[in-house]
Amino acid sequence: MGTVRLCQLAAAPSVCPRAARGENFMDFDIKKLAPGLAEDYARFFDATPHWDSEPRDELPCYCITWRNDDTYAGNDHWYPTREERRERAIRFVGAGSMQGYLAYWGGKIVGWCNATADCRLGVEHLRSYYPIEDYSADVKVKSIFCFMVAPQAQRMGAATQLVERVCKDAADDGFDYVEAYPSIEYVAPDCKGPLQMYIKCGFTISAERDGLAVVRKKLK
Ligand SMILES: CC(C)(COP(=O)(O)OP(=O)(O)OC[C@H]1O[C@@H](n2cnc3c(N)ncnc32)[C@H](O)[C@@H]1OP(=O)(O)O)[C@@H](O)C(=O)NCCC(=O)NCCS
Repeated sequence: MGTVRLCQLAAAPSVCPRAARGENFMDFDIKKLAPGLAEDYARFFDATPHWDSEPRDELPCYCITWRNDDTYAGNDHWYPTREERRERAIRFVGAGSMQGYLAYWGGKIVGWCNATADCRLGVEHLRSYYPIEDYSADVKVKSIFCFMVAPQAQRMGAATQLVERVCKDAADDGFDYVEAYPSIEYVAPDCKGPLQMYIKCGFTISAERDGLAVVRKKLK
């Protein structure tokens, strides 16, 4: 599905302000990741190119780093072969330790956003280079760690709609903040998402260091 075809299929201008301005926009179907979607999730990672500058045999990642079980410890978050990562991803999705949302177009997955709560070890790791404050016990934070939008669906609003859904569900679930970790100067591809997108979605910079930002959207 090429970009031109996606544009031709864009939502009616009356539906969306972005489309009304003549900008690319698709109305994606956003679904919360659930155990029953684990195989579809893995197939999306099997087929979608990412980290183009890396050797192909290092791919794909299956986004297994960001999860909230205690098997993540130091370098142990990564598994050396594609088969191991795939098998673990299916297991982690099944167990609910990997959380996030999928963007569908035409019944197919075209985007993924990892938004996992209580990813304690992952956040500890990020603190070594991001100025993430210590969370107090009474504050509930959901973190957006990673995206993967298929190349043919990029710049159509998928990541924006994924973020909007993360925030809506986090508010419904009683979270205080959604937090994310973009670079100040976005250079594609950066799986943490562009700062501008977060700003447009109502996030503000809560801290920055060495070109990296912590952005937050307050939900309460
Ligand atoms: C970064 C990424 C998540 C953006 O997703 P997207 O669905 O294309 O983003 P959106 O269409 O919602 O764009 C929202 C805003 O973000 C900014 N943005 C998005 N892509 C951008 C780019 N390539 N350069 C600069 N800004 C960009 C813009 O401000 C954009 O708004 P605009 O189009 O109105 O100007 C997507 O390009 C991606 O997944 N890239 C690959 C990341 C990767 O390698 N993941 C592998 C797993 S590690």
